[in-house]
Amino acid sequence: MIQPPVRFELLHRDRVTGARRGRLHTPHGVIETPVFMPVGTQATVKTMAPWELTEVGAGIILSNTYHLHLRPGEDLVAAAGGLHRFMDWPGAILTDSGGFQVFSLAPLRKVTDDGVAFRSHIDGSLRFFSPESVMRIENALGADIIMAFDECPPYPSSRAYLETSLRRTLDWAKRCVRAHQRPHEQALFGIVQGGDQPDLRRHAALELAALDLPGYAIGGLSVGESKPLMYELLAFTAPLLPADKPRYLMGVGSPEDLLEGVERGVDMFDCVLPTRIARNGTVLTRHGKLVVRNAQYARDFRPLDETCGCRVCQRFTRAYIRHLLKADEVLGIRLTTYHNVYFLLRLMEEMRRAIEEDRFLSFKQSFYRDFCVADR
Ligand code: GUN
Ligand code: ZN
Repeated sequence: MIQPPVRFELLHRDRVTGARRGRLHTPHGVIETPVFMPVGTQATVKTMAPWELTEVGAGIILSNTYHLHLRPGEDLVAAAGGLHRFMDWPGAILTDSGGFQVFSLAPLRKVTDDGVAFRSHIDGSLRFFSPESVMRIENALGADIIMAFDECPPYPSSRAYLETSLRRTLDWAKRCVRAHQRPHEQALFGIVQGGDQPDLRRHAALELAALDLPGYAIGGLSVGESKPLMYELLAFTAPLLPADKPRYLMGVGSPEDLLEGVERGVDMFDCVLPTRIARNGTVLTRHGKLVVRNAQYARDFRPLDETCGCRVCQRFTRAYIRHLLKADEVLGIRLTTYHNVYFLLRLMEEMRRAIEEDRFLSFKQSFYRDFCVADR
């Protein structure tokens, strides 16, 4: 019997909450969970070299089928020896399927049961994604984990639309299973949709569980609904997924959402938040977000975060980093990005330790006590 490419080991469950401590075995290393995956949309986590990702402790990153298909194309990436070798990243990679990007980025898209016709946001050329073509692309890119092609419906959507859309997403998931050419090298994860309708989400979770996939994602959240509703849908959906498989909450990653997600049993997260806010001069600290670009930091010679152990906080001041940002020096956004990614990875590490020691809730409460004090 051939070993599956990605295997999840559940190490410990919190006694009070749904939090789980686990381990994801992949062809490119062992990932301790809960884990945050920095986003490398175009085969680069913006501004960070691979050795810097290793230095901050990243073990797995996310990349995008949609972007890499349009540029430089999966054939070129395959000719380079696959995505890991193309970008020289030794860790694990997960590729998202384009099921979200095609709906958020591509102008003029048309969805049918066959797939999605759309125009490239780069050159306007006409393209078509189907479950079969997306599997071909993800197989060529060669990530360790590949996501099924899904439709992420907007919020709010009518009940009727959510039903049609979910039927399609579940049909596409089955077509992805059939079209996947490298099941012994790449793990295919399914995606639960269903919008804000609990019964549709339950139906999706049960249908996907029947496919016995190596992992499951919860999609269609953080798309404009309120935080309480997102947390409620998450608390309802996560426990419906098989306990022995990893659960991945897509596109979610503010410090608060990571804590609330882990509490409800999520093992994996990705989000552009740390890297995106870094590029407009905002950093995450123990006391909340700090807009280091602001004038109040012009003569502030403290580190970005006095409790942070990252290389940026060991060497540089808020005043210097603010100067770099104001002067549009590229080092400025490199330093804020490095710190923000380090910050979220350290938060995940602290959560993992808290779960192991059965004190997740008290850890969460103490984090909130500090974090709400913004801009200090
Ligand atoms: N990223 C964030 N949300 C989603 C989703 O619902 N589907 C996919 N494929 N990617 C996502
Ligand atoms: Zn730092």
